[in-house]
Amino acid sequence: MNEIVEEFRRRFGRDPEWVVAAPGRVNLIGEHTDYNDGFVLPMAIERHTVIAAARRDGGAEPSINAVSLNLDEEDEFAVERGSLESTGKWTDYIKGVLAEFLERGLAPESLDLLVSSDVPMGCGLSSSAALQVAMARVLQQLDSERVSDEEVPALCQTAEHKFAGVPVGIMDQFCIANARQNHLVFLDCRTLRAEHIPFNDPDKAVLIVDSKVSRELRSGAYAERRAECDEACRIMGIAKLRDAGEETVKAARKSLGDVCYRRARHVTAENSRTIEAVAAIGHKDWVRFGDLMYRSHDSLRNDFEVSCEEIDTLVDMARNIGIAGGVFGARMTGGGFGGCVVALIEKIKADDIVEELTAGYRRATDKALSAYVSSPESGARLLEPHDMESL
Ligand code: GLA
Repeated sequence: MNEIVEEFRRRFGRDPEWVVAAPGRVNLIGEHTDYNDGFVLPMAIERHTVIAAARRDGGAEPSINAVSLNLDEEDEFAVERGSLESTGKWTDYIKGVLAEFLERGLAPESLDLLVSSDVPMGCGLSSSAALQVAMARVLQQLDSERVSDEEVPALCQTAEHKFAGVPVGIMDQFCIANARQNHLVFLDCRTLRAEHIPFNDPDKAVLIVDSKVSRELRSGAYAERRAECDEACRIMGIAKLRDAGEETVKAARKSLGDVCYRRARHVTAENSRTIEAVAAIGHKDWVRFGDLMYRSHDSLRNDFEVSCEEIDTLVDMARNIGIAGGVFGARMTGGGFGGCVVALIEKIKADDIVEELTAGYRRATDKALSAYVSSPESGARLLEPHDMESL
């Protein structure tokens, strides 16, 4: 049995009843399109948040005792419908999900939870959504009738809106809940219909480069972008930017004004790029796919204005390495304002690429990056004793 089970026994004096694992995610293309009812193409990564859980006899006043191994922090709170509040701590993500389950009639019970994660925090790989979806899986074990698998992503999204105060889209939670191994998740965020796109060329790899510049989704810039997109829709008289083509946006340029015009231009072009990227994968046209990644980045930098200097530096360096050096394309990934760059590379060149990026990034910014290669991983699941060794 793996470490978390041992640690659970040590701390709580008994075996966990369940161990669940939820992966982080990286988005290959389709950025800031989800809350505009558009298209996204993320994959789950081989980094996980694991929760070991067991019920406890809590008497008349049920409570949750949650321990984070990463933060070395413990938090205890009452499990009572209507009384859960966000406090700015890591457990807000657990509480938010619990509150939604209680709203749907889950009977309050006492639980001990031990949380351990190797999804890096605050760098755009969805460590918080992984924690939420993992918690949802634990609560589904308590009462399998209460919340179906299909409901989990939207439930977690609502929890994030209410408890973290960020009006996120559905991409992260959906991908983390539903991803399949060796597949990308091509999601239509309007219908929530997903196509699982095979992505298993043994010579290609997805490289994730963490700029170590921390992302501040809470800062309000994310909500501001979302509001600008809504404003663009209001001006054009449409429900969502998904409903506008690039021509419609161009024709409305004057009435939109500079900022709304550029936001709308990004979203409509990004939707087309995402659809095209899926076709490129079908043809194994990696050069085309890479080019779409660069274009996505330029659009996020210039039109949507969610990149930052360090991230731009990394993407420029990737461009300089180029196809000859094994890089097909690169772009910022996730909400933006720091975080990670994702690149499609020739697997065999991974070490050389990382070495070159590390040295160049240090020279340019005096910062140390970290880099990981990941294959597309499967979504959140309950672990059986035999899969614990593989994590
Ligand atoms: C964050 C949000 C997602 C999505 C991305 C931008 O990761 O959680 O819903 O909006 O930003 O594409």
